[in-house]
Amino acid sequence: MDFTLSEEQLMIQQAAKDFAQNELLPGVIERDETQKFPSELCRKMGELGFLGMMVNEQYGGSGLDTLSYVLAMEELSKVDASASVMVSVNNSLVCWGLENFGTEAQKQKYLTRLASGEIIGAFCLSEPEAGSDATSQKTTAIDKGDHYLLNGTKNWITNGGSAEVYLVIAQTHVEKGHKGINALIVEKDMKGFEIGPKENKLGIRGSDTHSLLFNDVKVPKENRIGEDGFGFKFAMKTLAGGRIGIAAQALGIAAGAYELALKYSKERKAFGTEISNHQAIAFKLADMHTKIQAARNLVYQAAFDKDTGKDYTLSGAMAKLYASEVAMETAIEAVQIHGGNGFVKEYHVERFMRDAKITQIYEGTSEIQKIVISRSILKD
Ligand code: CAA
Repeated sequence: MDFTLSEEQLMIQQAAKDFAQNELLPGVIERDETQKFPSELCRKMGELGFLGMMVNEQYGGSGLDTLSYVLAMEELSKVDASASVMVSVNNSLVCWGLENFGTEAQKQKYLTRLASGEIIGAFCLSEPEAGSDATSQKTTAIDKGDHYLLNGTKNWITNGGSAEVYLVIAQTHVEKGHKGINALIVEKDMKGFEIGPKENKLGIRGSDTHSLLFNDVKVPKENRIGEDGFGFKFAMKTLAGGRIGIAAQALGIAAGAYELALKYSKERKAFGTEISNHQAIAFKLADMHTKIQAARNLVYQAAFDKDTGKDYTLSGAMAKLYASEVAMETAIEAVQIHGGNGFVKEYHVERFMRDAKITQIYEGTSEIQKIVISRSILKD
């Protein structure tokens, strides 16, 4: 497979790299410590077109392909995975979902502002009792004629406190199981919608994760996405692409940790020579480099499949499964190579280690990816 990047793709990669180095890096340790969401940086990313990368220009997006998006995700994630998850959710879950399944009126009202970065969005599927088992939705959206009455709780919602627009999955017809689920567009200031406490997290601490509470929220019928009962399919189809974004994030975390470890190993001396001259370290670097390249190939392949109209459910799941494992492994090894310094915040790698873990959990755990992969290869 030829993944030679075009001039435009190289430019986007460079722009993301520059932004990450110049804008994200300076405050990244402080944001991690204080769990501060980078709203100002978020605005700047919107101005640069990073928040609606694949959205058609007619709706305020950048009109780019998925490969450009994963290149940007990798570069941003090499420095700050908290900022990049916000980018990923806005691009591949919220904007992509609305552009592909929303009505023209929904696109005009919401997508244009989301794609330009004027506002950001959140994707609300997980619940206290419906994480991996996503069909077990307890949040209800009862049909009241011209509106739905929304009640329930959502958990671990990325951009939860800072979004203006929320795509909420809820059960309308309990007797129909997953075929009775709907996806609704909820606005932040709708009566009865409450943002719950911010989660105190192990990693991606700069991202804004909240629970959400819906108490008799009246959502107009025109805010339903797709036909009645399309909500679960909407979530699955959207997540299939979202997983490519998270795979790219995991790749970026791995590559970022590796680059720091490589540099450190050429500077740090032990037993009279740079530690990279010791085979114990050189072999670790060799393994890291090889696995990162393999992960990159899987991520690019999934993006290529999506861009060329092929089914990307399998390739996206494989990319996420493998890249997130490589992210975790590489970050742990980067800490090991840094020795005592690896345990200290100023050297960044301990943050990579904490941030890597979530890539094996959100948008479908590694175990869920194995369900998706095994079902796909066994179905014929
Ligand atoms: N595209 C289209 N339809 C799909 C699909 C896909 N990729 N995957 C499943 N479906 C459809 C199935 O065809 C089926 O429809 P029919 O009955 O009409 O055939 C329906 O969805 C139900 O599918 P299953 O029978 O396979 O359902 P299941 O309960 O056995 O399992 C699952 C499905 C794959 C395990 C699913 O529940 C799943 O993906 N769980 C993980 C949820 C997840 O990823 N959560 C992440 C939260 S979002 C997040 O993390 C965002 C963030 O903030 C970072």
